[in-house]
Amino acid sequence: MNTVLLKDTDEDIKKAAEIIKNGGLVGMPTETVYGLGANALNPKAVLDIFKAKGRPADNPLIVHISDVSQIEKFSLAEEIPEYAKILAEKFWPGPLTMIVKKGKAVPDEVSAGLDTVALRFPSHPVAQKLISFAGLPVAAPSANLSGSPSPTTPQHVMRDLKGKIPAIIDGGICNVGLESTVITLTENPPRLLRPGGITLEQLRDALGEVALDDAVLHKLKEGRRAASPGMKYKHYAPKANVTILKGGNRDFYDFVNANSHSNRAVICYDEDAPFIKGNKFLLGSKSDSAQQAHRLFDVLRQIDLNPEITAVYARCPDINGVGLAVYNRLIRAAGFEVKDLAEI
Ligand code: TXA
Ligand code: MG
Repeated sequence: MNTVLLKDTDEDIKKAAEIIKNGGLVGMPTETVYGLGANALNPKAVLDIFKAKGRPADNPLIVHISDVSQIEKFSLAEEIPEYAKILAEKFWPGPLTMIVKKGKAVPDEVSAGLDTVALRFPSHPVAQKLISFAGLPVAAPSANLSGSPSPTTPQHVMRDLKGKIPAIIDGGICNVGLESTVITLTENPPRLLRPGGITLEQLRDALGEVALDDAVLHKLKEGRRAASPGMKYKHYAPKANVTILKGGNRDFYDFVNANSHSNRAVICYDEDAPFIKGNKFLLGSKSDSAQQAHRLFDVLRQIDLNPEITAVYARCPDINGVGLAVYNRLIRAAGFEVKDLAEI
């Protein structure tokens, strides 16, 4: 199959909407990462998403809408909880996904057999237009091959899915750079399953108590069921062995410089650059978690493009605000390997 790169003009977005209406797949920009969209109400189209990505069948998809009224119009949710109304008012459209009891129209293929559905109203104008022009809810996971970092540019999508899907809309680089925040509203208090651009602090400000799922910061214990099935997979892992290093500047510089060789790379902050020998990838300023989120996946992909790199040391991010999402993705890239330099 030939994969065309469409522009973000109305004319081209309409072509993409036609593909979706006809049961096909489209790589689409959102403010978080690129998605691989299909008609959420068409089980065959949804199964094609799983095939193109090589995604395990037990990992459910997010349903994207371009207007809150579509939840009722398409019977996507059994009911809209009060918490959902508060969050929609504050954070939609935006990088927040809410899990609610699913409505009768949602195929089992989308929810992977669960009785809940994940809903998101993205703020990216191209995503909104695509959904509106198609006139359908759009199921979309991140548009990467399963196991590689989520794509934040159309080139990332091409690299993973060229020849497997008919079209990608070029909407430039994604602003947030990490996938949406996922919160489940099917229990009380609501629980954060995946941190992202909308922070735990913002959610607590809006709702009061919000629990933090164990899998956000820790490796799931053997045999424990993941609340969010995606959390049990070792996501975002580059081929090189990644280790997160906890500790102050001096300990970090001493350790990485003592272990410096040509197959080793360091992921660090802009401010660290002058003090580190050898290969380094900069995430942005130490105090700017949003910039670190924006760059992380591109850095992981760049590392993967260099087969010489076999070992990576990464600075441990500050886990406040969006930093919690950066840390959550980075510990998965590191297979949960964190070394505390104070203990050496
Ligand atoms: O920012 C994003 O959320 C992007 C863009 C394209 O919108 N999408 C995305 O989709 O990251 P995906 O499929 O890569 O991640 C969806 C996550 C997975 O961890 C999945 O297990 C979880 O949401 N999820 C989906 N439906 C769920 C449900 N009913 N219950 C619990 N977790 C669910
Ligand atoms: Mg994904």
